[in-house]
Amino acid sequence: MGPGNDTQISGFLLLGLTNKPELQPLIFGLFLSIYLTTLFGNLLIILTVSSDSHLHTPMYLFLSNLSFLDICVTSTIVPKMLVHIQTQNNIITYTGCMSQIFLSTLFAGWDDFLLAVMAYDRYVAICHPLHYTVIMNPQLCGLLVLVSWIISVLNSLLQSLMILRLSFCREVEIPHFFCELHQMIQLACSDTFLNDTVLYVSTVLLAGGPLAGILYSYFKIISSIHRISSAQGKYKAFSTCASHLSVVSLFYCTVLGVYLSSAATQNSQTSAVASVMYTVVTPMLNPFIYSLRNRDIKEALMRFFRRTALKGTIVLVAKKCH
Ligand SMILES: *[C@@H]1O[C@H](CO)[C@@H](O)[C@H](O)[C@H]1NC(C)=O
Repeated sequence: MGPGNDTQISGFLLLGLTNKPELQPLIFGLFLSIYLTTLFGNLLIILTVSSDSHLHTPMYLFLSNLSFLDICVTSTIVPKMLVHIQTQNNIITYTGCMSQIFLSTLFAGWDDFLLAVMAYDRYVAICHPLHYTVIMNPQLCGLLVLVSWIISVLNSLLQSLMILRLSFCREVEIPHFFCELHQMIQLACSDTFLNDTVLYVSTVLLAGGPLAGILYSYFKIISSIHRISSAQGKYKAFSTCASHLSVVSLFYCTVLGVYLSSAATQNSQTSAVASVMYTVVTPMLNPFIYSLRNRDIKEALMRFFRRTALKGTIVLVAKKCH
């Protein structure tokens, strides 16, 4: 069934973060800088990891995947939002809205799985250090990334198809800055029981599964670190998990914050502001968290900059000589 029976909905109105026009330039500037920082920071991580053979280990390849994902998440949401503010035209087409739902659900799910894969990687590194290179071979790493991608695509496809069967009867105003799955289900005027059920079950399975995996891995990691006798050994083992643990905490704290704030208030605009955190702020902070906390990345960054500067000088000199 298409959207609506007698009234064909061609688009929706995205209300954005605020209805105060004087705040729009501020929001525009803020989100533009956040977006550019996200692009720059994450691209730098991807380039550094790919250009440095010291970092061709599962942990850094997964981190670089996460950076790629961070770019994808913000790029499905922020550029569209910036255009809306700039043109003062808040209409998003039905197709545009559905693609935003599909992509944002896809990337959020993949993010979740990738964090669990990274926790497993840390678990193997600390609890089975002697077999690490055998267990985490490139085939397994590729397979883990591929499987989490496939599960996320299937889930996102299911959720989007479920949205397609809903009808929206009036001119729908979305109190949000992008078309978000949960929000859209609430705005439909047909029966949403099936949608709510599917969303609930898949959230429990797809968010609960990885979370259980992460908690289990860290339970094993902590009990294994506990058995190390020297304080220095303890610190060394734990420090390899530090960047992953910070990224995981940031991810789950913001998601929990959004969930609690939307449960506590009936005001959807408040929960829209809260969801800025995990859709926009987390992807920006991620590269800084793991590059600041991590010596390997810092050193690789230095090498990367030195090499780039050297290449730049060579090009300049070559041009001068011509
Ligand atoms: C993602 O991870 C896989 C498996 O480790 C790796 O082969 C690939 O290069 C990574 N992709 C990016 C963009 O980092």
